[in-house]
Amino acid sequence: MKSFLEAVRPGSREARLAAEIDPQRLPSHIAIIMDGNGRWARRRRLPRVAGHRAGVRPVRQTIEACAQLGIGWLTLYAFSADNWKRPRGEVETLWLLLRHYLNKELPALKRNQVRFQVIGRMDGLPEEVQRALDLVMLETAACTGLRLSLALNYSGRTEIVDALNAILERERRNGYSPSPLTEEVVSASLYTAGMPDPDLLIRTSGEMRISNFLLWQIAYSEIWVTEKFWPDFRRVDLLEAILEYQKRERRYGGLAEPDPAEALVPATVGGCSAQPPVP
Ligand code: FPP
Repeated sequence: MKSFLEAVRPGSREARLAAEIDPQRLPSHIAIIMDGNGRWARRRRLPRVAGHRAGVRPVRQTIEACAQLGIGWLTLYAFSADNWKRPRGEVETLWLLLRHYLNKELPALKRNQVRFQVIGRMDGLPEEVQRALDLVMLETAACTGLRLSLALNYSGRTEIVDALNAILERERRNGYSPSPLTEEVVSASLYTAGMPDPDLLIRTSGEMRISNFLLWQIAYSEIWVTEKFWPDFRRVDLLEAILEYQKRERRYGGLAEPDPAEALVPATVGGCSAQPPVP
């Protein structure tokens, strides 16, 4: 948080918003569905790929801001398993942009102590992209700050299927002594094993959809949607999302505080009192 305040202009809107944030209650994991690159470009009568190019700057800024704020984990949805359906030229441009980004940003990632990883079926990516990703993962492996995950060739449903198959395969190798599955066992077999679930899920471009992203992990995430297209996403938007998150009351299906009046009312089951009323 301190390094973020040092990086912004004193008196700016960013500085004012940042000063309102409670550093003790930062989301530990932020996940972002970066959407609207194509519409951003169409509004400007530009080809769709111009929107993707313009989307690189907010990627860089968001990673840096999260690192400076002291956020533990950031996951960016960069390419879904369904994005292969797009025209070949667009897909190839996305891979070129990614390789260019990784090559150019590696020193900044290391300077900001960002540890990089990928979630998704990495073996389905073009080989030169896999090599570039491997290099950045290796080079940042000792970084101790923000843990950045890029979701590439990612599908939430496929992730769950892969996890269940991995569990079955382990069972097969151990000679089948099946014990009942638990949520912990499934969580530990997902691509996100070892990561906390996202506290805050941000989506740009106003769409109210999850789009097959982190289906298991977002069970209790707070969702914040902005109308802005991804290329227009700025640090102030990130700060506003965090401030809104800090206003939410997270109950995980329970109650925020026990209601003292409830203690006086006997519990009922199907309309009948579960306990005889105390005389
Ligand atoms: C969604 O917008 C965006 C993507 C499918 C790609 C995300 C890519 C970037 C942000 C650029 C580079 C990324 C990195 C990590 C360097 P869309 O094309 O679906 O937009 P639309 O819904 O308006 O058509």
